[in-house]
Amino acid sequence: MTSTVVPQQAMPVPEKEIETTRERLIYYSSASGNTHRFITKLNRRAARIPMRRTEPDLVAETDYVLLVPTYGGTKGERSILPQILNFLREPQNRKYLRGVMGAGNSNFGTQYNIAARKIAAKLDVPLLYTFEIMGTEEDVARVNEGLDEFWTHLSLNPQ
Ligand SMILES: Cc1cc2nc3c(=O)[nH]c(=O)nc-3n(C[C@H](O)[C@H](O)[C@H](O)COP(=O)(O)O)c2cc1C
Repeated sequence: MTSTVVPQQAMPVPEKEIETTRERLIYYSSASGNTHRFITKLNRRAARIPMRRTEPDLVAETDYVLLVPTYGGTKGERSILPQILNFLREPQNRKYLRGVMGAGNSNFGTQYNIAARKIAAKLDVPLLYTFEIMGTEEDVARVNEGLDEFWTHLSLNPQ
């Protein structure tokens, strides 16, 4: 029996596709879509962090506020979803991050909105707002007013 030895060749690693965004609001929402519903009620333009690895990575090209839900592990470990960690691994997404908002559920007690809190602490940006599930009408109004004020203030105080 004869065998042919095929020389091993390094397989080229395909470059991950990217999608750039200049939206001032970037959010993640999983299949349950609560955060997405909140964003829809805000009636503001926003970019969504992809759920699947097959989708292009999102890269911010200007200052933005991030809105993320928490999916907790024990004691807050793994409370930041891998898709959000992947997004924040991109240096430009850390560079342009100006503030964080969180969606959670207060039934989780001390782990309430832990993902947004951790991101704000780790990346040294303000935690601007937290709300439950898909937010109330009051949350919608407060976030809309707060974001307008925040961007006005930032544009007067360029970083
Ligand atoms: C498995 C699971 C774990 C969760 N863990 C937490 C948690 O630790 N802290 C918290 O504040 N909310 C927690 N939540 C609530 C979600 O953050 C909340 O439902 C949010 O609205 C989900 O947003 P999404 O539907 O856009 O993904 C959890 C929800 C699920 C289903």
